[in-house]
Amino acid sequence: MRVLFVCLGNICRSPLAEGIARTYYKEHIFDSAGTGAWHVGQPPCMRSQIIAKKKGIDISTLKARQVSVDDIGAWDKVVAMDSKNLADLKAMGFENAQMLLDTDVPDPYYFDNDEKMDEIYEMIKGGIDRLLA
Ligand code: 4NP
Repeated sequence: MRVLFVCLGNICRSPLAEGIARTYYKEHIFDSAGTGAWHVGQPPCMRSQIIAKKKGIDISTLKARQVSVDDIGAWDKVVAMDSKNLADLKAMGFENAQMLLDTDVPDPYYFDNDEKMDEIYEMIKGGIDRLLA
Protein backbone atom coordinates (compact mmCIF):
# COMPACT_ATOMS: atom_id res chain seq x y z
CA MET A 1 0.00 0.00 0.00
CA ARG A 2 1.13 3.55 -0.78
CA VAL A 3 0.14 6.17 1.79
CA LEU A 4 0.66 9.95 1.69
CA PHE A 5 0.26 11.93 4.93
CA VAL A 6 -0.71 15.58 4.51
CA CYS A 7 -0.71 18.57 6.87
CA LEU A 8 -0.36 22.32 6.32
CA GLY A 9 3.40 22.93 6.46
CA ASN A 10 4.82 19.38 6.19
CA ILE A 11 7.17 20.23 9.05
CA CYS A 12 5.31 19.14 12.22
CA ARG A 13 2.48 16.59 11.99
CA SER A 14 2.79 14.79 8.65
CA PRO A 15 6.57 14.15 8.82
CA LEU A 16 6.03 12.71 12.31
CA ALA A 17 3.30 10.48 10.87
CA GLU A 18 5.63 9.45 8.03
CA GLY A 19 8.40 8.57 10.50
CA ILE A 20 6.10 6.53 12.73
CA ALA A 21 4.55 4.70 9.78
CA ARG A 22 7.94 3.89 8.20
CA THR A 23 9.11 2.48 11.52
CA TYR A 24 6.10 0.28 12.33
CA TYR A 25 4.81 -0.69 8.87
CA LYS A 26 7.90 -1.42 6.81
CA GLU A 27 5.93 -3.38 4.21
CA HIS A 28 4.18 -0.23 2.98
CA ILE A 29 5.40 2.90 1.18
CA PHE A 30 4.99 6.31 2.82
CA ASP A 31 5.57 9.94 2.06
CA SER A 32 4.31 13.22 3.46
CA ALA A 33 3.55 16.64 2.03
CA GLY A 34 2.04 20.00 2.97
CA THR A 35 -0.83 21.89 1.40
CA GLY A 36 1.26 25.06 1.85
CA ALA A 37 4.65 25.90 0.33
CA TRP A 38 6.20 28.07 3.08
CA HIS A 39 8.57 25.43 4.42
CA VAL A 40 9.50 23.51 1.27
CA GLY A 41 12.97 21.99 1.63
CA GLN A 42 13.07 22.39 5.41
CA PRO A 43 13.56 19.57 7.94
CA PRO A 44 10.78 18.76 10.46
CA CYS A 45 10.19 21.22 13.34
CA MET A 46 12.31 20.60 16.45
CA ARG A 47 9.26 19.56 18.53
CA SER A 48 8.49 16.76 16.09
CA GLN A 49 12.15 15.78 15.73
CA ILE A 50 12.55 15.61 19.51
CA ILE A 51 9.44 13.52 20.24
CA ALA A 52 10.32 11.18 17.36
CA LYS A 53 13.88 10.77 18.69
CA LYS A 54 12.50 10.06 22.17
CA LYS A 55 10.56 7.17 20.59
CA GLY A 56 13.63 5.94 18.69
CA ILE A 57 12.65 7.41 15.32
CA ASP A 58 14.95 9.66 13.29
CA ILE A 59 13.02 12.09 11.09
CA SER A 60 15.82 14.67 10.89
CA THR A 61 16.63 13.96 7.24
CA LEU A 62 13.08 14.43 5.92
CA LYS A 63 12.51 17.52 3.78
CA ALA A 64 9.21 19.34 3.39
CA ARG A 65 7.48 19.36 0.03
CA GLN A 66 4.18 20.72 -1.18
CA VAL A 67 1.42 18.37 -2.25
CA SER A 68 0.96 18.43 -6.01
CA VAL A 69 -1.64 17.44 -8.61
CA ASP A 70 0.92 14.78 -9.60
CA ASP A 71 0.04 13.09 -6.29
CA ILE A 72 -3.57 12.61 -7.43
CA GLY A 73 -4.05 8.95 -8.24
CA ALA A 74 -0.51 8.08 -7.11
CA TRP A 75 -1.45 6.95 -3.56
CA ASP A 76 -3.80 4.27 -2.21
CA LYS A 77 -4.54 6.48 0.77
CA VAL A 78 -4.15 10.24 1.16
CA VAL A 79 -4.44 11.00 4.85
CA ALA A 80 -5.12 14.48 6.22
CA MET A 81 -4.16 15.60 9.72
CA ASP A 82 -7.08 17.99 10.11
CA SER A 83 -10.36 18.97 8.47
CA LYS A 84 -8.86 22.04 6.76
CA ASN A 85 -6.16 19.88 5.15
CA LEU A 86 -8.92 17.49 4.02
CA ALA A 87 -11.01 20.31 2.53
CA ASP A 88 -7.94 21.69 0.70
CA LEU A 89 -7.12 18.23 -0.69
CA LYS A 90 -10.71 17.67 -1.86
CA ALA A 91 -10.67 21.11 -3.54
CA MET A 92 -7.47 20.11 -5.37
CA GLY A 93 -9.19 16.98 -6.68
CA PHE A 94 -8.11 14.28 -4.21
CA GLU A 95 -11.35 12.32 -4.18
CA ASN A 96 -9.97 9.56 -1.97
CA ALA A 97 -8.55 11.85 0.74
CA GLN A 98 -9.54 10.94 4.30
CA MET A 99 -8.88 12.09 7.86
CA LEU A 100 -6.29 10.26 9.99
CA LEU A 101 -8.71 10.46 12.94
CA ASP A 102 -12.32 11.55 13.36
CA THR A 103 -10.90 14.63 15.06
CA ASP A 104 -8.21 17.17 14.07
CA VAL A 105 -4.62 16.45 15.11
CA PRO A 106 -3.66 19.70 16.94
CA ASP A 107 -0.85 21.64 15.30
CA PRO A 108 2.37 21.76 17.39
CA TYR A 109 3.46 24.80 15.34
CA TYR A 110 1.09 26.90 17.44
CA PHE A 111 1.88 25.40 20.87
CA ASP A 112 3.58 27.52 23.56
CA ASN A 113 5.66 24.56 24.77
CA ASP A 114 6.40 20.86 24.26
CA GLU A 115 4.00 19.50 26.88
CA LYS A 116 1.47 18.10 24.41
CA MET A 117 3.96 16.28 22.18
CA ASP A 118 3.52 12.87 23.86
CA GLU A 119 -0.23 13.19 23.33
CA ILE A 120 0.24 14.22 19.69
CA TYR A 121 2.57 11.27 19.12
CA GLU A 122 0.03 8.84 20.62
CA MET A 123 -2.82 10.34 18.60
CA ILE A 124 -0.89 9.96 15.35
CA LYS A 125 0.39 6.47 16.23
CA GLY A 126 -3.16 5.37 17.14
CA GLY A 127 -4.53 6.72 13.87
CA ILE A 128 -1.85 4.94 11.85
CA ASP A 129 -2.51 1.66 13.68
CA ARG A 130 -6.23 1.90 12.90
CA LEU A 131 -5.46 2.83 9.29
CA LEU A 132 -3.05 -0.03 8.61
CA ALA A 133 -3.34 -2.80 11.21
P1 4NP B 1 2.23 21.35 10.22
O1 4NP B 1 2.41 22.67 11.10
O2 4NP B 1 1.07 21.62 9.28
O3 4NP B 1 1.90 20.28 11.22
O4 4NP B 1 3.53 21.15 9.50
C1 4NP B 1 2.54 23.95 10.55
C2 4NP B 1 3.76 24.38 10.09
C3 4NP B 1 3.89 25.65 9.57
C4 4NP B 1 2.80 26.49 9.49
C5 4NP B 1 1.58 26.05 9.93
C6 4NP B 1 1.44 24.78 10.45
N1 4NP B 1 2.94 27.79 8.98
O5 4NP B 1 1.95 28.56 9.00
O6 4NP B 1 4.02 28.17 8.50
